[in-house]
Amino acid sequence: MPPKKNKSPAATTLNPMEATLEADTLRRQLKRHDEAYHQKDAPEIPDAEYDALKNRLREIEAAFPNLITPDSPTQTVGYAPLREFKKIRHAVPMLSLSNSFADEDVTDFVDRVRKFLLIQDAQKMEVLAEPKIDGLSCSLRYEGGKLVYAATRGDGEEGEDVTENVKTIKSVPQALPKDVPDVLEVRGEIYMTREDFRALNRAQEEAGEKIFANPRNGAAGSLRQLDVRITAKRPLRFYGYALGEVSAPFADTQDGVRQKLKKWGFDIPVPSTVADSAAELLAFHEKVYHTRPEIPYDLDGVVYKVNDLEYQKRLGFISRSPRWATAHKFPAEQAETILKKISIQVGRTGVLTPVAELEPVNVGGVMVGRATLHNEDEIGRKGVYEGARIIIQRAGDVIPQVVRVVNPQPDKVFKFPATCPECGSLAVREEDEAATRCTGGLVCPAQAVERLKHFVSKYAFDIEGLGEKIIKEFWDEGIIKTPGDIFRLSKHADALKTREGWGELSVKNLLAAVEERRTIGLDRFIYALGIRQVGQATARKLALHYSSLDNLLAQMAAAQDHTSTAYNALDDIGDIGASMAEDIVAFFAEKHNLEVIHDLQKELNVKDFERPKTVESAVTGKTVVFTGKLTKMGRDEAKAQAEALGAKVAGAVSKNTDYLIAGEDAGSKIKKAAELGVRVLTEDEWLALIG
Ligand code: IVH
Repeated sequence: MPPKKNKSPAATTLNPMEATLEADTLRRQLKRHDEAYHQKDAPEIPDAEYDALKNRLREIEAAFPNLITPDSPTQTVGYAPLREFKKIRHAVPMLSLSNSFADEDVTDFVDRVRKFLLIQDAQKMEVLAEPKIDGLSCSLRYEGGKLVYAATRGDGEEGEDVTENVKTIKSVPQALPKDVPDVLEVRGEIYMTREDFRALNRAQEEAGEKIFANPRNGAAGSLRQLDVRITAKRPLRFYGYALGEVSAPFADTQDGVRQKLKKWGFDIPVPSTVADSAAELLAFHEKVYHTRPEIPYDLDGVVYKVNDLEYQKRLGFISRSPRWATAHKFPAEQAETILKKISIQVGRTGVLTPVAELEPVNVGGVMVGRATLHNEDEIGRKGVYEGARIIIQRAGDVIPQVVRVVNPQPDKVFKFPATCPECGSLAVREEDEAATRCTGGLVCPAQAVERLKHFVSKYAFDIEGLGEKIIKEFWDEGIIKTPGDIFRLSKHADALKTREGWGELSVKNLLAAVEERRTIGLDRFIYALGIRQVGQATARKLALHYSSLDNLLAQMAAAQDHTSTAYNALDDIGDIGASMAEDIVAFFAEKHNLEVIHDLQKELNVKDFERPKTVESAVTGKTVVFTGKLTKMGRDEAKAQAEALGAKVAGAVSKNTDYLIAGEDAGSKIKKAAELGVRVLTEDEWLALIG
């Protein structure tokens, strides 16, 4: 028990022996609580009690100064370590990049951009190329030239406040020259050189601390330290590669942005080039790839960015990445190892995925112990078997893959199971499908647990303290069987407090984290349901289209009839194809899924989707269809522009269409529009309408 201040005798009345003993005990207690608090994220006592312990130690040390040790918790002054990182909402979302692997992907990228912008063959289009380091992205916000905050990417909308940590990085300027815009957000990468990384691991090893698998993990682990004194000792670096919010434009090109950043004291990625063609980009990629050994940090590819910022603006974004950039990855790293065992994992939609358990091997700086085998066909194609010598490869952050077997033995090839290893139900493969699925549905514990894990995952409900491990334990113990149970956890509060390693405070924190999520946005809610094929981007589209949960449910009920307008409307939402529409409708046909949703509705407040701020325009809320050849911009740009102005773009003319925009050589759609009395506009009339 912590010594209560009123009960302990004044420190000055202790004899030296008593003082030594009590100071020792206090130091040990404080150290243990520091660990529970910072490393295990599971504090055992409230802050006030912790402070009382520390104050008592201070009193004793004041009365007996010879007892002060350099590592005493009272001596480690400076920044007070944080309990957790605060959240920061990004003024402009932090997105990621589409990937290109093959040369064709790069040619396609250049062609796509030219087509979107309708750039004629004879006209030049510049693309800037620069290296890509695999570190972690960070947004630095300056106001009046002063660094006001630094935030990690997080889910792209909201990151963690790592300002104090970032202030310890030498290559991050804390104040900028006078000529910078009042608001300036510089986005870039935090990373470590190979040499610094090796030195860090040596020091970690000597101190008996955690070894990092690669420089990226080293950088991430060093930045996300609640105690900034640790970050301060780590050799982190930063380079700037893009902008977030900026109050006044200061360059016309990406290259111009680079030059300004450099002038203002930021490091920028080198080398770089400005190219006019895909061929030049590929030559640059090749050159950088071969000079990697001389570059002191690990690169995982080259990034291409359309140079003209006005073009970038027109190109905009597609789901979560810019149309104006792509990351051209370097070829995968390979290594040879032994395949020890093939295990079968059952995912939340029941798919059986074979996983190769390997003799751990270093592949381009990362220790790999498992690789995916995808499905039954892949096993047959590659002829894998347990005990085989195999080549595996890893590219960037993708899951390692099995390339081939070194010593094939056709008679030993692994036989794919006909039943689910988790619940024993039949496992079947539908015609035309590569995946084998367990037919057990929610009877299958693996599926039920995976669904719950997905439900609480980062981009879904993101409940702090409710990780995958705890979900599995709670499921096994019957505490959480369905998503709704999460919001009834407080019923189990007393039992939870008695769990090993748990205390009053950890339960309080968990329940508070659950409470915080009782109100949730419709997009996160839809994503959390784990509908087949529905990722974050599609969930957002559905939320945008249906606005409220009630409306979504009503429309999905109506859409069970495939000839209904509700079904057509779903199919018409941009990028939702027939197969996805089928899966969505099927999800809402299943009784169990509806029960889960209705149960959740009792517990939750699902907020209507807030439309991202679009300018109110003459076409907000209107449904438009484009046909024929446009001359002022590409079809995709026209669509993107209409959507940005709040219009819905459909593929076919129906009685719900407000305008048909007909370019050159428009065909049958004009006739259909005339029949239905839909207004037809020329490209110029359309442009005049939207101003
Ligand atoms: S441009 C709108 N340039 O790669 C996004 N990204 O895989 C603009 N990265 O999230 C990103 N070096 O963290 C860009 N020279 C570079 C980069 C770079 C590393 C990271 C960045 C991004 C990730 C995407």
